Amino acid sequence: MIQAVRGTKDILPDTIDNWTYLEQIARQISEQFGYKEIRTPIFEKTEVFSRGVGEQTDIVNKEMYSFLDRGGESITLRPEMTASLVRAVIQSSIYQQQSITRLWYFGPFFRYERPQKGRLRQFHQYGAECISSPYPESDVEIIHLSTTFCKAIGIDDYTLLINSLGNDAARAKYRAELIEYLRTNKDRLSKESQVRMELNPLRVLDSKDEQDREIIKNAPVILDYLDEESREHFEAVLSLLDHLKIKYEINPRLVRGLDYYSHTVFELQHSSLGAQDSFGGGGRYNSLFNQLGGKETPAVGFAMGAERLLLILESIAKLPQVKEIADYYIVTADENYTKYAFEVAEKLRSIGKRAIFDLQRRSMKAQMREAGKLNIPFVLIIADEELKNSTLTLKNMSNGEQTQIPFEKITEHI
Ligand code: HAM
Repeated sequence: MIQAVRGTKDILPDTIDNWTYLEQIARQISEQFGYKEIRTPIFEKTEVFSRGVGEQTDIVNKEMYSFLDRGGESITLRPEMTASLVRAVIQSSIYQQQSITRLWYFGPFFRYERPQKGRLRQFHQYGAECISSPYPESDVEIIHLSTTFCKAIGIDDYTLLINSLGNDAARAKYRAELIEYLRTNKDRLSKESQVRMELNPLRVLDSKDEQDREIIKNAPVILDYLDEESREHFEAVLSLLDHLKIKYEINPRLVRGLDYYSHTVFELQHSSLGAQDSFGGGGRYNSLFNQLGGKETPAVGFAMGAERLLLILESIAKLPQVKEIADYYIVTADENYTKYAFEVAEKLRSIGKRAIFDLQRRSMKAQMREAGKLNIPFVLIIADEELKNSTLTLKNMSNGEQTQIPFEKITEHI
């Protein structure tokens, strides 16, 4: 038997309602904030991500699904949306036609990671991006959108971690100091951190290695290096969050794994997820437009992992109820009545009801049993007696009540 590729999952009919539910709430909340949906291709030229996400990130270094297509071009299955979205926005110039561009998305993404609970090679994200405002209010709008979404799906016991990476100048100063500190402790750092230290020192702060963590404890923190502009921006974000009563924890070591961030970065964590406790994250990216060949444009956004959201909902017993597949099950005495079943079903569907009937020529008893098994609330019976009187028997499956309704007037009686 051919199995699905490791780290990928079929979304089978028994869980599809969870997915449509997530997507429906994502759409509803995004639209309430004035965001329009955007869909971009699943694959892009590799340089969209190598330039956008950053050559020295784990994503670009180790996790991309890249291949040469038949024309010899290097193509990559999108590992995240922000770079693709910015590419699309630059290409279509929509950001030059309107003052603020607000976009949301839901779709599959691909990263070659070691699969485990909450970590897949094909996973899904809901995200949003707010383009063209350099001001703290847009950072807060994005955070507010993400927390409003959490509330709408019933997740409230999460932690919002927040930090500022400052502007380019502040970050450059901090980077130099951090490298200096790490160099003096180089021999005690893990092999991986020794390599990272020179290429992408901020990522060392993310190390899970015990010994590294000891060293990181005493490392300089970025918040001490923020200049006035960066500090004012961060303080304004925090003050607006306070005003909105959005609880947060400042974590001066939160750096996030993508290179495009500046100023605000944030992450949403939930304890039910274990090692992969982060279910969402985002931040400001003021130089990404430039890096991808567009006009310098400030922007901020977030993304959440749909699989992780569903794991949380399962752990707190807040998954939506599974919907039954139809409102009506039409039971017929035998195949001679099938033509009436087609007619009745069509009438029901024409008034927006969901109707099914047997296609295996089973006995009435078996059909009734199936309707019960499928939790279908109403059964319509067509047999001799009914046809003789030009009526149907409508049975309410929850209380067993039966009524006769005229064949020609079903829709009026439903
Ligand atoms: P990210 O932190 O790389 O950020 O991913 C966001 C979320 O996607 C994670 O918190 C997690 O829930 C989910 N996720 C990531 N990788 C996997 C995986 N292998 N399996 C399952 N879920 C996963 C971004 O992607 C940025 N583009 C967010 C952003 C938008 N920043 C600004 N705008």
